[in-house]
Amino acid sequence: MSLNSFGHLFRVTTWGESHGPALGATVDGCPPGVALDEGMLQHWLDRRRPGQNRFTTQRQEPDAVEILSGMFEGRTTGTPIQLMIRNTDQRSKDYGDIAQAFRPGHADITYWQKYGIRDPRGGGRSSARETAARVAAGGVARAVLGVLAPEIRITGYMVQMGPHLIDRERFDWAEIEANPFWCPDARTAEDWATYLDEMRKSGNSVGAVVEVVAQGVPAGLGAPVYGKLDSDLAAAMMSINAVKGVEIGAGMAAAALTGVENADEITPGADGQPVYASNHAGGILGGISTGQDVVVRFAVKPTSSILTPRRTITRAGEETQIVTKGRHDPCVGIRAVPVGEAMMACVILDHLLLDRGQTGGVRGLIG
Ligand SMILES: Cc1cc2nc3c(=O)[nH]c(=O)nc-3n(C[C@H](O)[C@H](O)[C@H](O)COP(=O)(O)O)c2cc1C
Repeated sequence: MSLNSFGHLFRVTTWGESHGPALGATVDGCPPGVALDEGMLQHWLDRRRPGQNRFTTQRQEPDAVEILSGMFEGRTTGTPIQLMIRNTDQRSKDYGDIAQAFRPGHADITYWQKYGIRDPRGGGRSSARETAARVAAGGVARAVLGVLAPEIRITGYMVQMGPHLIDRERFDWAEIEANPFWCPDARTAEDWATYLDEMRKSGNSVGAVVEVVAQGVPAGLGAPVYGKLDSDLAAAMMSINAVKGVEIGAGMAAAALTGVENADEITPGADGQPVYASNHAGGILGGISTGQDVVVRFAVKPTSSILTPRRTITRAGEETQIVTKGRHDPCVGIRAVPVGEAMMACVILDHLLLDRGQTGGVRGLIG
């Protein structure tokens, strides 16, 4: 299998399976001289770690990251950084029932059709354990951004669970870390708890929408036409397991706006900086950042491994029913939040480095 890498200058390759001895990421193109240690990466991994409350899978993986290369005396050397996370909580027997039949909605059937080899223990490479490696790589990106562009702040949160949306009038940044759903609206978080408990107890699962915002991104990141910041962000988010839709700014809703409504009007600000009256563009015009918040949303489908019987076929082509036991996330969107943040960090840093390489800091001045 090829195509395990993403990014242009800040290039991340992930490797490993959920039920092998370890998985990880190789980060190439990291600038030298950046202070980095395992604790800094662990901070981000702990946010994605399973088993922290009743609303995520009860698998207990410490997800302890080790840095194997690319460092000297606490600083990056500019050579490839190898990150490794050992797998510790594999229970292959949980997957006995699905060894012969394909879970509807999961990658089992396409992996078999493509490769003719199937590792049913947690889905092998299709397991979302791979996203732990992305979060570790995103931690490296955040450390570099902390030096090159400390004003950039990346925050992810859930804005919808099943049909239940947050109320934007009650949006509170401080609330995001205060509930198990990364929900910026405290009252909606309570409703989600009741709703998800019902779903889980009835052997069902539910989807979600995650929003990731990058604040403090300078104007000028991204390039026309095949290196657009929005196309790279969309590809990065769409590559996360279970993601079925990505939008930037007003996204799909922009189709229903008129030109008058959609225009983010511009007025002169201090020091030649334009001031925008709104942000339907999600901080990107012509593939290039405007200096406003970069806003990405992605839709995550409901977990396909559920306790309710579903019709399917076996590898021999016979009809059967499947019930997926084992420990699965009832709402994958929750643990996808730190993953979306990591992908945003990697893409923004990649484009920051590309911009330096291409323009060397040259800018068109206003005023
Ligand atoms: C953080 C995270 C956790 C996930 N946990 C599970 C899980 O416990 N059970 C499951 O069946 N799918 C889970 N998924 C989704 C599957 O990995 C994914 O649906 C599968 O690989 C099929 O790929 P696709 O949905 O992208 O087409 C998870 C996804 C993410 C992002």
